[in-house]
Amino acid sequence: MQWLILCSLGAAGTVFAADSALQPFRFQNYAPGAITPTGWLRDQMQLSADGLGGNLFDFYRYVHESSWIGGTYEYSTLNEASPYWFNGIVPLAWGLDDARLKAQAKQYLDYVLDHQQADGWLGPETTPQTRGLWGRALFFFGLTQYAEADPTETERIVDAMHRFVVLANAMLHDNYRGLINNATLGDVYDPYEFGTSRAQELPVSLMWLYDNYPRNNSALILDTISLMFEGSRKANFDWTTFFVNGVFPTGAAPNPAPGFMHGVNMAEGMRYPAVLYRLTGNESLVAQTADAVNLITTYQSALSGTIIADEFVGGLDPQRGSELCIAVEVMFSYAYLYRSFGVNDYADRAERAAFNALPVALAPDWWSRQYVTQTNQPWVDELTSVPFFNDNDYSLTYALEPNYPCCTVNHPQGYPKFVASSYVQDGDDGIAHVLLSPTSLTTTVGGKAVSITCNTHYPFSEVLEYTIVAKTAFSFSVRVPGWVSGAATAQVTTTSAKGRKTVSTVAMTPDATTGLHAFAVAAGTTTITVTLPMANEVVTREATSSETGVTAPSVGIYHGPLVYALSVEFEETTHLPLNFSTDNETPLAAFDIVPESRDHFLLPTSNWSYAVDPSTFAFHSRDKASSALANPIWANNAPPVAITVDAYPISWPNASGTADVPPAVDASAVDTAAKTTLTLIPFAAAKLHIAQFPIYNASATDA
Ligand SMILES: *[C@@H]1O[C@H](CO)[C@@H](O)[C@H](O)[C@H]1NC(C)=O
Ligand SMILES: *[C@@H]1O[C@H](CO)[C@@H](O)[C@H](O)[C@H]1NC(C)=O
Ligand SMILES: *[C@@H]1O[C@H](CO)[C@@H](O)[C@H](O)[C@H]1NC(C)=O
Ligand SMILES: *[C@@H]1O[C@H](CO)[C@@H](O)[C@H](O)[C@H]1NC(C)=O
Ligand SMILES: *[C@@H]1O[C@H](CO)[C@@H](O)[C@H](O)[C@H]1NC(C)=O
Ligand SMILES: *[C@@H]1O[C@H](CO)[C@@H](O)[C@H](O)[C@H]1NC(C)=O
Ligand SMILES: *[C@@H]1O[C@H](CO)[C@@H](O)[C@H](O)[C@H]1NC(C)=O
Repeated sequence: MQWLILCSLGAAGTVFAADSALQPFRFQNYAPGAITPTGWLRDQMQLSADGLGGNLFDFYRYVHESSWIGGTYEYSTLNEASPYWFNGIVPLAWGLDDARLKAQAKQYLDYVLDHQQADGWLGPETTPQTRGLWGRALFFFGLTQYAEADPTETERIVDAMHRFVVLANAMLHDNYRGLINNATLGDVYDPYEFGTSRAQELPVSLMWLYDNYPRNNSALILDTISLMFEGSRKANFDWTTFFVNGVFPTGAAPNPAPGFMHGVNMAEGMRYPAVLYRLTGNESLVAQTADAVNLITTYQSALSGTIIADEFVGGLDPQRGSELCIAVEVMFSYAYLYRSFGVNDYADRAERAAFNALPVALAPDWWSRQYVTQTNQPWVDELTSVPFFNDNDYSLTYALEPNYPCCTVNHPQGYPKFVASSYVQDGDDGIAHVLLSPTSLTTTVGGKAVSITCNTHYPFSEVLEYTIVAKTAFSFSVRVPGWVSGAATAQVTTTSAKGRKTVSTVAMTPDATTGLHAFAVAAGTTTITVTLPMANEVVTREATSSETGVTAPSVGIYHGPLVYALSVEFEETTHLPLNFSTDNETPLAAFDIVPESRDHFLLPTSNWSYAVDPSTFAFHSRDKASSALANPIWANNAPPVAITVDAYPISWPNASGTADVPPAVDASAVDTAAKTTLTLIPFAAAKLHIAQFPIYNASATDA
């Protein structure tokens, strides 16, 4: 098989020895189930299990009656719906150790593997014209997690993957069949180029196979990975040509827009240089990953940590939407990038999306979700017109399938994969807590049992309390986020076998790249109380009204990883779920819904048009470590933290059926006697919200 490698890598212009391994990850992951959520995060995952996530298999036509398990429903020829669900249900089931969800995953696994076709194909398609590789990339994400979570299935899964990769390799050698849709040949599997724009996804799992279970197939696996990248170049989806200053868009996408500017593509494409780096070892891809993150952050990001794109990117416009799928994909991307390169900023960004962008788009009970979220979203209703690139007027509603069903099946991966990525192995005897939140890890170091429990109200609190019980000494690291204000400190208490306690206070000295501070933990019981000082961080942005052409500054406010927002009070109405196939104009057939599933509309009952004085932001906490956080936590009045600010009523016009971008404030027209104090709460708890405010500088104006 060696000639295959030389052949295709030669075409890619890469020098690569046939026997060299892939570039290693900076850190190794743990199997799903080794890390379990506790506290508010467990509550959230349980809500997902009790809400849409854990019920789609029982009722939702695109999962319950998916073509992958003998049904007839698919929302597109990509046949991606149930594979998306599978990618999320496996870590949800094992993260919660939930027998019901494990049985769902097992039933799906059994059906798909038992129906593997004679030539190795996995999935329902039987003709070359319908067999697209993209849906397999998602199915393989589920498979590799399953193989790690349940060793009794590993061999069977690996067998199936090996049979498949032989076929995939032959398909790709046949003019990239399965990857590059060729209409001349009658191909219908990928008319909108989602497979070619996301070609790095299947290689992630093929690299897992190569790393862990190569058998005698290493050369063929590597060749298949190379062909996926070569195909992406042939199809003009080489992301290394796009994450380049001067090429990357500095504002909203034009219409029509190239596929690079599609929000979900970009959220996944930011992994492309990192995945390719594993294959080629080209060091400039490491730097380009940082460029990609910086370009996205500078030009296309929401305060909530996601990308602004209501199908295609919208610059920094707080009126434009961010698709829910993007939130979970950037969470996974940033976790993958941190695992790859150990750059502290990537982990901060994974947390920011996890604590803001993901939960804001879900109803508190996880039974409905938005398609897109606006940074400034004073109502959630069927709109009279839309400010979006091409999403429909129903996209803001909390519903079963507003605008498009992908986020219904894809959102459940968010927290479970975040939890599974939250601790990593650092070398042979190191464990690091990298994505901070309440979680526990049960594992071994050098064959000896180690358990770590992180008890915390983080991100609502600065304090994380670790209890470590270990049969061996090891190195335990905690990641100190880049935003900490002042010195992070830790109080370490060790208890000897004879019960003698030693307490020491440590000023943490995080590594400049990874942000990790290492503690030498002895065998026995150790408690470590880490304090990560949080401060208010004011962020100024500008946006231009599409209505008036006026550009005005606006401010947002962070405290630690949370962005804060004015929570607009609302009146909620609901009705039966509407069918996305009719552009959400008609109800779904009764047999396709369950009573818990309703579509929700939130109309404001309090004022929301204010300018704020950024010099007056003040943080308040009523958090008590001894009492549990409210459940659900991402709901009005639930989080124990708030920020107050002086504010002044202003007039704020509408544009395109929603609130216009923050208007310029005419200081002479501000009624200073109407000054009021607004209470801002964590963004994700405020389903109707203003997070980017017009500015009125009272003291500057007085002076
Ligand atoms: C599509 O298939 C036709 C027929 O085999 C072939 O001539 C053409 O080059 C293919 N197009 C691409 C873009 O590969
Ligand atoms: C790999 O090939 C060797 C030599 O042909 C053979 O002895 C061995 O059983 C093979 N291993 C596997 C896992 O197929
Ligand atoms: C390395 O990657 C960069 C993109 O980051 C690319 O421009 C360059 O051509 C690559 N070098 C090789 C030898 O492939
Ligand atoms: C949704 O609408 C489409 C288009 O009218 C229709 O074919 C389909 O049967 C509807 N699906 C359900 C489940 O009601
Ligand atoms: C909103 O503001 C207006 C004008 O300042 C005031 O008359 C009205 O009472 C306010 N409404 C609510 C619900 O606070
Ligand atoms: C803006 O639109 C909302 C929703 O359609 C409407 O209730 C409100 O009266 C409008 N405000 C202005 C100032 O036109
Ligand atoms: C408000 O005051 C700050 C600090 O003096 C200044 O940087 C900013 O430009 C002012 N903004 C406006 C809109 O006046």
